[in-house]
Amino acid sequence: MKNVLVIGSTGQIGSELTMKLRDIIPDGNIVAGYIPGAEPKGILLESGPAEEANVKNAQQIAGIVEKYKIDTIYNLAALLSAVAESKPLLAWDIQMNGLINILEIAREKKCAVFTPSSIGSFGPNTPHDSTPQDTVQRPRTMYGVTKVATELLSDYYFIKYGVDTRSTRFPGLISNVTLPGGGTTDYAVEIYYAAVKGEDFACPIQAGTFMDMMYMPDALKAAIDIMNADPSRLIHRNGFNVASMSFDPEIIKASIQKYIPDFKMHYEFDPVRQAIADSWPNNMDDSCARAEWDWKPTYDLDTMTQDMIATLRKKFGK
Ligand code: SER
Repeated sequence: MKNVLVIGSTGQIGSELTMKLRDIIPDGNIVAGYIPGAEPKGILLESGPAEEANVKNAQQIAGIVEKYKIDTIYNLAALLSAVAESKPLLAWDIQMNGLINILEIAREKKCAVFTPSSIGSFGPNTPHDSTPQDTVQRPRTMYGVTKVATELLSDYYFIKYGVDTRSTRFPGLISNVTLPGGGTTDYAVEIYYAAVKGEDFACPIQAGTFMDMMYMPDALKAAIDIMNADPSRLIHRNGFNVASMSFDPEIIKASIQKYIPDFKMHYEFDPVRQAIADSWPNNMDDSCARAEWDWKPTYDLDTMTQDMIATLRKKFGK
C-alpha cells in the first residue's frame, strides 16, 4: 500500500483514515476523495492531494487512479442505517452502483479495495450473542441489504477476477473528529458531546439494548491491518467480524458518570433506530480476524471514555 485513494475522505472514518495513512506512508500519495458540498478543509486539505471522487462517476475515479498510480482504494461512500431507511433508492445507488464502478476500475487497474461492511449486515434471525463469522445474514434494512450485497460482490470479484478485496464488519464507531451522519449507533458518539458540554442527553435507544461498538483508533488499525495482512493466511475476505466492546445506554452512561458525576441522561426513544438496533447483534465473535490477521483491539469502554472526554474537553475548551 503506497498510493491510496480514500473515497469519502471528509466523512466520519475518512477524515481520520486519510490523516493516519499520510502519517504512516509519508512517501505515498494519499488522495482525499470528496464530493461537492463535502470538500476537505484545514489540515486534511493542506497535508496532501485532494480530488473530486464521486463513486457514481467511473471516469472520474479511473482518472484519479491513473494520475496518482493508486494501488489501494478505500471505498467509504455510504448512507448510514437510519438515513438509508428514509432514502433507500439513494442508498442503493451509492452503495451498489458506486461499488461496481470501483470494482471494475480495480479489476482493470489492479487495485486492492476495502469497502466496509457492518453489524448492519446481520438481521433479526442471526444469533445475537457471540454472532459467528459465518452465519445467517438476512437483514431487513436497506443499509443491511447493501452491506450483504457488498460482501458478496467483493468476494465475487476476488474469486472470479483476483481483485484483492478485503473488509471488516464494523461495529458502531465512536469518534471525536467528524460526527457520523444518520446511523443507529450515533447515540454512543453524541452522548459524549452532550456530557462534555454539560447537557442532559436525550437517548434514542432503550435501556437494555446492547450493540457492538468500537473506538475510532481501533477501527483505523483494523482497516489498515487487514489491507496489509498476509494474503496466504486469509480464509475469509469480505468481511471480518471485528469487536472490542458491547454495551447498552445505561452502561455507557455509568462509564461517563465515573468522570463526569453530574452527567444526566433521559430516554426519548426513536422507533426507527430502536427497531434497527433490536435486529443487530449484541456482540460479535471476532475469532477469525484474530486467527487470520492477528486482530486485537486496544481500547475498552473505560479507556475510550477517558480519551473521548479529554479530547472533547480540549476541542470545546471545557
Ligand atoms: N454505525 C452504523 C450505523 O449505525 C453501523 O454500521 O448505521
